[in-house]
Amino acid sequence: MTRALLTVVAAGGLLAGCSSSFNAPRDAQSGAAQARWRSSVDAIGKPISEADLSAWNIDVAPDGHGLPNGSGDVATGGRIFAAKCAACHGAKGEGLIGDQLIGGAGTLATPNPKRTVGSYWPYATTLFDYIRRAMPYNAPQSLSADEVYALSAWILNRNGIVPDDARLDAQTLAAIRMPNRDGFVPDPRPGKL
Ligand code: HEC
Repeated sequence: MTRALLTVVAAGGLLAGCSSSFNAPRDAQSGAAQARWRSSVDAIGKPISEADLSAWNIDVAPDGHGLPNGSGDVATGGRIFAAKCAACHGAKGEGLIGDQLIGGAGTLATPNPKRTVGSYWPYATTLFDYIRRAMPYNAPQSLSADEVYALSAWILNRNGIVPDDARLDAQTLAAIRMPNRDGFVPDPRPGKL
């Protein structure tokens, strides 16, 4: 008996999920009840201000969309790296308690692949996004846009990807083609990106 009932309930649930009758109970409420529900929901929270939103809205797309104004060069990046990053990533980005950031070129197809920013990451714009969002590990989001451009320039330079005199900004960073850009393939399974 209980089993039969459960089956019916489950089938009903499936049907409801597949058709527009899903909202039927709410539709059946009186207009006044719906208005009360709506105003109680509207009373929760308040609209976020542009200023508060911009502090969270910091993602940078692979094509560079979302990169801020500003710029930074390799030499400046080297100085910032020594002061704020080397303690964890090593003076040459060789890795300590933080990941190795530099080197590993040509190792991906070997039995001992070294997946670094230089050898592995497909987009330079992701480097900017990651540093701005998460580093230094002990003080995330404390760096200015100029500092993040400079750090990106130094890390890419030491990986042999940009020249010593490179100055990166939104345009020049997005234009960089990373060595492993074509090393990723789309997942062909349906429903996957
Ligand atoms: C207190 C230690 C510490 C400091 C300081 C630090 N990092 Fe990191 N960093 C880490 C750790 C730990 C990770 C790995 C985090 C994870 O996997 O979640 C990391 C990861 C990274 C990565 C991603 C590497 C990869 O291949 O996934 C980058 C890029 C990076 N750090 C850059 C920097 C830069 C630039 C600075 C200086 C502004 C910095 N870090 C300062 C500890 C640190």
